[in-house]
Amino acid sequence: MNDEKNKFPGTFVGSQFVKYIDAKEIKGIVETLGNALSQKYQGQDLVLIGVLKGSMIFLADLAREIKGVKVYIDFVRLQAVGRSKENHGTIMINKDFTTNLMDRNVVIVEEIVDTGRALSFLKKRILLAQPRSLEVVTLFDKPYKRAVNIQPDMTGKKIDDQFIIGYGLDLEDYGRNFEQVYYLKYPN
Ligand code: IMP
Ligand code: MG
Repeated sequence: MNDEKNKFPGTFVGSQFVKYIDAKEIKGIVETLGNALSQKYQGQDLVLIGVLKGSMIFLADLAREIKGVKVYIDFVRLQAVGRSKENHGTIMINKDFTTNLMDRNVVIVEEIVDTGRALSFLKKRILLAQPRSLEVVTLFDKPYKRAVNIQPDMTGKKIDDQFIIGYGLDLEDYGRNFEQVYYLKYPN
């Protein structure tokens, strides 16, 4: 566990990744969030909406930490299109939720909130489905990068403005299977 460099694909230069958050700390954070959700929704029905692909590992662990709640799971996939240096582009739905959310308790499960654009889009989209309640749980938050005024209701850990991978978070779609979280150290 100390060194999972054997999981790194050949294209990853191992030395560019620095261990940032170990698996034990992640487990503790996920347990704390799971307990909070268990207390809040005790005996009730709760729909978790995971944002693909990044939240899949977090959601899988979080859902299993929720006790005494009827947990229902669905996923959406978002896509940022038309992004360039001059234009931050727009968010589109790549895969929508397929659950009737009307009058249900809904929690969006995100692995990280950065500018907040994706989350802002998704919240508006879900509110159109008239849930009874809606809140957002995120494992990581980069508050310094926020471009729209939106805050998660529950945050596992606030992190500095650095690019991280592991535990669902990717670099060009790889690294999601790392059990620890690493940050990318740029060589220059
Ligand atoms: P935003 O909040 O709309 O900027 O988008 C957040 C999304 O960008 C997340 O759901 C991730 O998919 C991705 N993202 C942001 N920061 C990181 C990071 O440090 N590592 C990997 N993906 C990230
Ligand atoms: Mg995401």
